Amino acid sequence: MTAPKASTRAMAPNPTAGDGGSAHAAATVPVVAVDGPAASGKGTIAEGVAAVLRFHRLDSGALYRLVAWRALESATPLDDAPALAALARLDARFDADRVTAGGHDVTAALRGEDVSAAASRVAVHPAVRAALTERQRAFRRPPGLVADGRDMGTVIFPDARLKVFVTASPAERAARRHKQLIAKGISVTLESLLREIEARDARDAGRSAAPLAAAPDAVTLDTTGVAPGASIAAVLELCRARGIEPARE
Ligand code: C5P
Repeated sequence: MTAPKASTRAMAPNPTAGDGGSAHAAATVPVVAVDGPAASGKGTIAEGVAAVLRFHRLDSGALYRLVAWRALESATPLDDAPALAALARLDARFDADRVTAGGHDVTAALRGEDVSAAASRVAVHPAVRAALTERQRAFRRPPGLVADGRDMGTVIFPDARLKVFVTASPAERAARRHKQLIAKGISVTLESLLREIEARDARDAGRSAAPLAAAPDAVTLDTTGVAPGASIAAVLELCRARGIEPARE
C-alpha cells in the first residue's frame, strides 16, 4: 500500500470537538510547533517542513480568521464574546489549503486585510480560544503534526517535540506582505501595512489570554534576510536533532 503523497498528507483532518482518539495515543504523535508574529514566515516554514516530513498541518490562524470572517458577514460585534464563541463552534472543513464553510470555499476571503485585523480582535476573548482548543488538538494524528500560530508551543501543544519561535523585523514582514498582496493584484501601501502589522503585534502580545510569546523551551529563528528554503532547512535540522524523521512513503 502506498502512503499518500506529501501534498495530500499535508491535508488536515476535519476534526470535531472530542474526536481526537485516545489522549494517550495522541500524546505519542510528534508535534512541531511553529509560532511567531504576523508575516514572520511561520506559515511558509510550517508548510515546507510538513511536506518534507509528510506530516499533517494545522494553520491555526485560519480558525481565528474563520471566526472573524463569520463575525463580519453576520455583523456580530467583535466584542460580543459569547456570540463569537458560538461562531467558533460552527462546522467547517479544512482540506489541504482550502477552507469550506456553509458550503462555500472561503479560502481567499480569509486572507483579506479586514479579516486579518478582525481575527486578532476576536482572538483576545478567552471564550473564543476555549471553543477552538479541542478542535486544534484533534489535528494531532499519526504520523505527526506541524502546527503554526501564536500559542502552539505555549498552550495548545505544550508537549511539542520541537518548538520554534520565528521572528523577523517589522519592516521586513511588512515588505513580504506587501509583495504577496501586490502579486495578487491588491493595491496597498507599505506604510499602511507596517502600521497594521505593528497594531496586530501589539494586540497579540498584549492580550491576557495566550499572548504571543516564545515558550521557554522554544528555539528562536530570526528570518530577517533569510530565504524561505534556508529557514525550512534550519527547522528540518532541528527536527533531526530531536529524532523527528520523515514518515515512510
Ligand atoms: O497567523 P494568522 O496571521 O493567520 O493569524 C490571524 C490572527 O489570529 C492573529 O493576528 C492572532 O490574533 C490570531 N491567532 C491567535 N492564535 C493562534 C493563531 C492565530 O491568536 N494560534
